[in-house]
Amino acid sequence: MGNELVLGDCLVELPKLASRYPSGFDLVYVDPPFNAGGTRSAREGRGHRADGAAAYRDAWGGIDDFLAMLQPRLAAIRDVMSARASLWLHLDHRAVHDAKVLADRIFGSRCFEGEVIWVPGNGGRRRSGPSVTHQTILIYRKGKDFIYNLDSPALREPYADTSLRMHFNNTDADGRRFRERSINGKTYRYYADQGRRLGSVWSDCPAMRANTPLIDEGTGYPTQKPESLLTRIVAAGSLEQSLVLDPMCGSGTTLAVAQKLGRRWVGVDQSPLAHRIAKKRLAKLVVEPRQTRRTRAPSRPSVRD
Ligand SMILES: C[S@@+](CC[C@H](N)C(=O)[O-])C[C@H]1O[C@@H](n2cnc3c(N)ncnc32)[C@H](O)[C@@H]1O
Repeated sequence: MGNELVLGDCLVELPKLASRYPSGFDLVYVDPPFNAGGTRSAREGRGHRADGAAAYRDAWGGIDDFLAMLQPRLAAIRDVMSARASLWLHLDHRAVHDAKVLADRIFGSRCFEGEVIWVPGNGGRRRSGPSVTHQTILIYRKGKDFIYNLDSPALREPYADTSLRMHFNNTDADGRRFRERSINGKTYRYYADQGRRLGSVWSDCPAMRANTPLIDEGTGYPTQKPESLLTRIVAAGSLEQSLVLDPMCGSGTTLAVAQKLGRRWVGVDQSPLAHRIAKKRLAKLVVEPRQTRRTRAPSRPSVRD
């Protein structure tokens, strides 16, 4: 099972998913409204001309109202997570600090595993006062431990040039540059081409607007996140047999990435426009396998309205 797209409020849909997927989801990424005010409109069609279609509202009567929306939904998310799952909660400065306190209460502060500072690369735009040019992704586990693929190449970044010049002065029989370090009497070897472990500031996954070649990825849905960001998250927090959930999936970025990485996925969104865009996007990705009597096309997204 898996690979389904559901139209509806995740608060209503998550308990239904819990009964259909009793072993739970290994990875949940959620990118809710940000408490930014107003309504987000889509830019659909060739060249992504603005057509003014409202995608979703992000207007709340203040932070308390916003948290009142988020609280039961985070609790419902927790209920559908597997024992070794993680939640990646994506927000920005307008709500992340209050949401952290809220999520600590729901998951327990000891289950807070850290945060990613994502730098979309759009540049400062405020005319008075400091511009905020990053967003924050809070990471919580549900159980004692959680899936985290520490050695995945997706969680590596290149060594700094200075470090490469100063330290990587050896070459092995295959021509690979390396350095060795002795720590507590044990010698460790590090290869230049493997890169170093990624830190918590991610500035190498540019936003849709920050890098024009990414226009190809764009669906016109507002606040669509880049596939490079989700690729890293899905590669970090799930295994091939994992079920991945995005309960506010928008244009379906998480689902598209999960499909490409061979994970099973479920997406929910209450916006009919999001549902239509995500359905189209996912249908394009699904390659119909040749059908025989014994095999069934497994991955065409099923749509529940
Ligand atoms: C920031 S957008 C998500 C964008 C998405 N990550 C992408 O890459 O396209 C937030 C989404 O949350 C959806 N949403 C808001 N409240 C919801 C709820 N209670 N249940 C399901 N979806 C909801 C909105 O319709 C909107 O599509």
